Amino acid sequence: MFTQPEIKELRKDFPALNQINPKNGKPPIYLDNSCMTMKPLVVAEAEWDYNTKYPACGGHRGSYWFAEIVHEKVEATRSAIANLIKVPAAKSSEGKPLFPIIFTRNATEGLNLVAATLGLMPGETVLITDKEHNSNLCPWQEFEKRGGKVSILSTKADNTFDMPGFKALLAKDKTIKLVSVNHSSNLDGVTNPLQPIIKAVRDTEKKQARNIFVTIDGAQSLPHLTLNLGDPESPGYLDVDFYAGSIHKMLGPSGLGFLYGKPELLDCLPPYMVGGSTIYETSAYHRPVYAEWPARFEAGLQNYGGIIGAGAAVKYLSRLLPRIKAYENHLNGILSDVLMPLHEAGKIRILGPADALQRGGVLTFLAPERQEGERMRVLREKSWQHNLMYRTGHFCVDVWFSTRQDKLFPSYTPVRLSAYFYNTEAEIETAAKVIQRIFA
Ligand SMILES: Cc1ncc(COP(=O)(O)O)c(C=O)c1O
Repeated sequence: MFTQPEIKELRKDFPALNQINPKNGKPPIYLDNSCMTMKPLVVAEAEWDYNTKYPACGGHRGSYWFAEIVHEKVEATRSAIANLIKVPAAKSSEGKPLFPIIFTRNATEGLNLVAATLGLMPGETVLITDKEHNSNLCPWQEFEKRGGKVSILSTKADNTFDMPGFKALLAKDKTIKLVSVNHSSNLDGVTNPLQPIIKAVRDTEKKQARNIFVTIDGAQSLPHLTLNLGDPESPGYLDVDFYAGSIHKMLGPSGLGFLYGKPELLDCLPPYMVGGSTIYETSAYHRPVYAEWPARFEAGLQNYGGIIGAGAAVKYLSRLLPRIKAYENHLNGILSDVLMPLHEAGKIRILGPADALQRGGVLTFLAPERQEGERMRVLREKSWQHNLMYRTGHFCVDVWFSTRQDKLFPSYTPVRLSAYFYNTEAEIETAAKVIQRIFA
């Protein structure tokens, strides 16, 4: 939890939040944090340092002054991410520490990497839920084109995970080779019960004497939750095989993500993209022998400035992370207290459980008319007056909308407000009042 004076101090680190819109003389109220978070100054400074002091390539391409700095800083980011998710270093073939973190452009690329390289076979099944982001749907739909199957578990009426349904599917369908679910949902902020989910998978593996992989889409959880993916002896351990993250939702530069993989699995995966950096050796006369990971999966020159900025973001985030969830819940409580009576009166439809504590910092509601409707027009107008920034649309959760929406409202617009730790109580109260006046 944070106090309002603490938030006021923290906001000084975020130049974007300290601007005034010249059109209306007001500051921003940014509530689209599920899409992209603001970036603290330290991130821009780290990128500036890269661009102005040592803008060279890393990856041991050059053994000279600038390249050494880049290499060290890139590896420092890799180790900071590993620390954040409590993953220890493995060892390279030369006995050097190697953190099982692959830099990607985003969480989407991490999930695609797994789908393309895991060696899933025709006839095998990937089990997902109906609340997956398209990034955790389309790669498996591509697998369907190669003879695979995608099985979609519906969530319960309140949008929470259907554990009995999940266990029944695992017991019944012996073709399930991979379970790939989100940790927290960008639709409604609900966090899936990963420990029981993973336990059910591991129990099934034992009962059926076969392997089942677990891939987690962590895009929405890493910015909010403390994680333990590597220490079975410590609380909260999550025995996942792969975990994809999105740096631009974690205060870091845009267009950057990462994939964690168990070292023994990364050892077995072929490269995803090939070319420079991925090679141990090749020539005109023989096919390539690929390098160890992470190099095997990081083809070509990398976004070094971004990765170095990500290191600063992860350090900044690590310091605050243990207090973030309680504060987001507090903000969502304020918003929900104002908007829940409208939901109960059937004037809007809040998605997910009624209890705000189960929805993190997210409140998504269906407004009872389409974008062209009069009240949506007023909402847009008022939002511009207050610089209120939120999201409308399907948030790339098209499975859920294509199977559920019309049962809730025949004509609707989904509106999502997603708070983060730098939002103030006053901002949330303003957003709540604007929406309440329009839809009451
Ligand atoms: C749950 C979830 N998964 C995946 C993604 C895609 O993330 P990225 O932009 O890092 O590819 C998002 C983005 O909003 C998301 O919310």
